Amino acid sequence: MDYSAVLNKSVSGGKLDVSEIAVLLSPPDKECEKALFDAAYKCKCELLGRVVNLRGLIEFSNICTRDCYYCGIRKSNTVPCRYTMSINEIVHAAELAGVYGYGSVVLQSGERSDAGFVDFVEEAVRRIAELPYELGITLSCGEETLETYRRWRRAGATRYLLRIESSSEKIFSRIHPAESSFAERKAALKRLQQADFQTGSGVMIGLPEQSVEDLAADIIFFRETDLDMIGMGPYIPQEDTPMGKEFPDREGDAVKRLELALRMIAVTRLVIPDVNIAATTALQAIDPVSGRERGILAGANVIMPNVGDVSHRKDYQLYNGKPGLDENSRAIRQKLVESLAAIGETPRFDGTGDPLHYFKRTKKI
Ligand code: 5AD
Repeated sequence: MDYSAVLNKSVSGGKLDVSEIAVLLSPPDKECEKALFDAAYKCKCELLGRVVNLRGLIEFSNICTRDCYYCGIRKSNTVPCRYTMSINEIVHAAELAGVYGYGSVVLQSGERSDAGFVDFVEEAVRRIAELPYELGITLSCGEETLETYRRWRRAGATRYLLRIESSSEKIFSRIHPAESSFAERKAALKRLQQADFQTGSGVMIGLPEQSVEDLAADIIFFRETDLDMIGMGPYIPQEDTPMGKEFPDREGDAVKRLELALRMIAVTRLVIPDVNIAATTALQAIDPVSGRERGILAGANVIMPNVGDVSHRKDYQLYNGKPGLDENSRAIRQKLVESLAAIGETPRFDGTGDPLHYFKRTKKI
């Protein structure tokens, strides 16, 4: 299949099938790759402007009941010191996001479903919703019951991120222990939509034995699941995890995964133009100088700067080389404004930056 013919079909709104998406993900040369990035960036700018939405990320607890083979905060890992921020600390971090004009916060944690945790998150959300800032509240706390999702939604959260990690059941079951179920993960995404959350998901890119066809199927999964937000990034081996030990990186692997992740962002933007796509921290972990900016230039429109307390950051190392470990939130904000200005983009201050797709899906516009 001719690369530019498929690219043109996509740009002019044609619905691509899985093999056409796989073609787009594999540009035969640098010129075709540049054409892909340019088309995706143009699509982002025309539909969403040269504006980047910000979400202040609060990693409020690293206690986790899951044992995912790739993740640095899996329950069996004894290296990180386990912590949970107090409600006051979380609210303070959210206030900081409000003062900075980020417009939105993401509360992320390890996964727990006990009653104490459900109450705790509900209370944190309620307190943040009372703050005198226009702050969107996103949660990213794993699989929960419909009732829990509804309680958190009623408390004032409007968005939820729950990655599928891979839409291939084969890969999913290789990277998770048996107690994690692929069907259950998909059902949880449906429950989030039922509870009226703006729903986000995503995958890791460059997992062992993951093919370009698998990644193309991931994009079809995003489209068919009618997601509003996509967050995906390169897989990065974490040395204390079973996968990190079994498949340590060889020279050049990380850069290849970063490039593949950027192509995934670009193709996703072309296939589902109206979703929010995050330029994730994992991009920056591999290219500390310009990883996230490259994500924006490939079509992403969201960045999630950290607003949590620096003291906990070393214990929230999902993967090696997580950036910003020594920086305080103010320094992170300043650097972000400057680096976005350098590529002609403006951060959106004081706006929640809801995904267009959600309003179309729920017929609210
Ligand atoms: N490399 C890249 N991403 C990771 N995550 C967890 N561990 C890793 C890793 N080793 C991602 C997962 C999870 C999100 C919070 O962080 O996709 O959903």
